[in-house]
Amino acid sequence: MSEHYFTTSPTSAHERRIIHYTPRGGRELSFETDAGVFSKTRVDRGTDQLIRAIRIDPKESLLDLGCGYGVVGISIATLFPDCEIVMTDINERACELAKANARRNGVERITVLSGDGFDPVRGRMFSVIATNPPIRAGKAVLHRLTEEAYDHLESGGRFYAVVRTKQGAASLKRFIGQTYGNADEPEIGGGYRVIRAHRE
Ligand SMILES: C[S@@+](CC[C@H](N)C(=O)[O-])C[C@H]1O[C@@H](n2cnc3c(N)ncnc32)[C@H](O)[C@@H]1O
Repeated sequence: MSEHYFTTSPTSAHERRIIHYTPRGGRELSFETDAGVFSKTRVDRGTDQLIRAIRIDPKESLLDLGCGYGVVGISIATLFPDCEIVMTDINERACELAKANARRNGVERITVLSGDGFDPVRGRMFSVIATNPPIRAGKAVLHRLTEEAYDHLESGGRFYAVVRTKQGAASLKRFIGQTYGNADEPEIGGGYRVIRAHRE
C-alpha cells in the first residue's frame, strides 16, 4: 500500500531528487525532495499561491505549519530577510529535508521541529502562521490546526491557508471566519484559494 505523505516515519525506498523553484520577486532556489513527502516532483501550485500571498514585516516571526521539504519557510526567508522562521511537520523525513534545504539555500535563521500540529511549539507565539494544510488528513485535523493556530498568534497576527477551490475551500473559509471573526482571500487562481484571517 502506498504511504500517505503525512506518515510520521516514511519507510518507502528513497527516491531523492533536486527540484528548482523561483518565488515571485525572489531568486531561484533548489530543494532536495524524496519519496514519502508531499509534491516531490515540483512545487505545488497551491504552495506557490500561498507564498505569493504572505506579507510579513521585518523582525516578525513565521510558523510554516506542515512544512514538507521546506519551500514556504525557505522562500519567505529569502523574500523577507529579517524575519524569524520556524518550520514544523509530523513527517520526520520531510523535516530532515527541510533542514538540509535551508542549508542548501544559504538560509541561516530557520528552526525545523518535528511533531504533531502545535506540539513542537507549545507556548510560543507567532506573527504569521502559514499552511498548505493536509486536506487528506480530514476535517477534524484541519479544524484543530485552525483553532490551535489562533491560540499561537500574537495580537495582530495573520493566519494563511491555501486550499483547492474544489477540495472544500468554501467550507474551510467559513470555519476560519467563525474561529477568527474575519476571513478574506488575498490570492485566487489556478483552482486554489488562499484564505487569510487576522487575530484582533
Ligand atoms: C499539503 S502538504 C504541504 C507541504 C509543504 N508545506 C508544501 O507546501 O509543499 C501538508 C503537510 O502537512 C504535514 N502534516 C500532516 N498532518 C500533520 C500534523 N498533524 N501536524 C503537522 N504536520 C502535518 C504533512 O506531512 C505534509 O508535509
